Amino acid sequence: MTELTKRGIAIFGGGYIGLVTGACFAELGHRVVVRDIDPEKVRILRSGDVPIYEPGLGDLIAQNKERLTFTLDSAEAIHEAEVAYVCVDTPPTPSGDADLSRVWDVVDTLRDAAHLKAVVVKSTVPVGTGTRVRAALDEAGLGHVAYASNPEFTAEGTAVRDFMRPDRVVIGTDDPATARLLGELHHGVDGPVETMDVHSAEMVKLASNALLATKISFINEIATVCEATGADIRQVARAVGMDHRLGPHFLAAGLGYGGSCFPKDSRALRALASNSGYPFQLLGSVIAVNELQPRRAVQRLKAELGGSLKGRRIAVLGMTFKAHTDDMREAPATVIAARLLAEGAEVHCWDPMGRPDPEAQPWSSARRLPTPVEAVAGADAAIIATEWPQLTEVDWAAAGDAMRRPLLLDGRGLLDARTLAERGFTVMGVGRAT
Ligand code: UGA
Repeated sequence: MTELTKRGIAIFGGGYIGLVTGACFAELGHRVVVRDIDPEKVRILRSGDVPIYEPGLGDLIAQNKERLTFTLDSAEAIHEAEVAYVCVDTPPTPSGDADLSRVWDVVDTLRDAAHLKAVVVKSTVPVGTGTRVRAALDEAGLGHVAYASNPEFTAEGTAVRDFMRPDRVVIGTDDPATARLLGELHHGVDGPVETMDVHSAEMVKLASNALLATKISFINEIATVCEATGADIRQVARAVGMDHRLGPHFLAAGLGYGGSCFPKDSRALRALASNSGYPFQLLGSVIAVNELQPRRAVQRLKAELGGSLKGRRIAVLGMTFKAHTDDMREAPATVIAARLLAEGAEVHCWDPMGRPDPEAQPWSSARRLPTPVEAVAGADAAIIATEWPQLTEVDWAAAGDAMRRPLLLDGRGLLDARTLAERGFTVMGVGRAT
């Protein structure tokens, strides 16, 4: 097989997506410069550390340090680049639309980059953004620089593997030469490449996340009906998922989806549809069902504790939006902690990883304890909000003894309810009648 050309790539944005993309492209042999606007982040990366927790990412960055550098300076980033990747975040505005200001900042800095072959947007953006970026490039005299969309489908915790062995790579471009160039960049990635027009590529990303979110809200509603009828969601979901047309994934009932993607992207797609004159009713329900889940968990605890949480001590075990990440953005746990505090409860929490997140201030008066057993000590109830494997190792008999009342809401279906009951716990599960 002929050796394919290694390219120079500038990555704009050193967050989860930019770092994983940059490190993986470097691993594939390309020369990558990651540019971020945060001096502290760039300092940490230059010192050999990684500012986020993502399994395998630190090793990948270390192994490729000859080909992977970090800068604050966009001119330095594009100096030797043929392709510029836009990987900045697109946070939601209050109306649910994506805030594209960081994308436009990057596009602005590319005005003098006449030597580039392509500008590629990986950030999640509304359908139609590519057309606007194209127009901005044309206006800047960069009509000869190609534009492409290359959405990402990596999940936190498995991002490196997801990049290297994806279900598909989606490339949106109308230009065959650009499709070839981006296909070449991904040489060594073990997955099929789907090439399509820019609008469709932008939509694939939003539709994929919305359908995954729909599966979760659907199974959470089935779980609620299971609780009321005596069925067991784990058995139901397992057998439902054995139908190959439905698939076994994303059928784990819990406390609702969180993170930086599903909540934001589902609201963004709803806003996009609404702005296009179509009210996306199903997606509206998916979002409403998701917002209900943490509230329902608090209501159930409150009812079990006699109708009031005032003065009750509640332990929240796990604060991140899922296990194996340090990310607490839109985590159900943070919503639950905030609601418990608002109801007058005292909140003790534990997480092996979660870092304080300024966006999650409503629960900042919760007390953070170093171990699950310390977090539940003296508590009237505990709630498992993240499926951290460490929680399966806890000595639950000792934990129960340390609690004022051994009441556990297992929001992730992590533990064996029967064993806990034998240890004296009252166990409330999601999607089963216990
Ligand atoms: C998600 C998608 O899975 C990725 O494909 C996508 O690229 C990414 O968003 C993105 O748009 O950047 P991520 O947010 O990292 O990835 O996490 P997931 O593993 O998808 O979990 C999202 C939330 O759904 C978590 O809170 C998780 O606990 C919850 N979930 C997931 C369930 O409640 N039940 C399930 O069965 C699966």
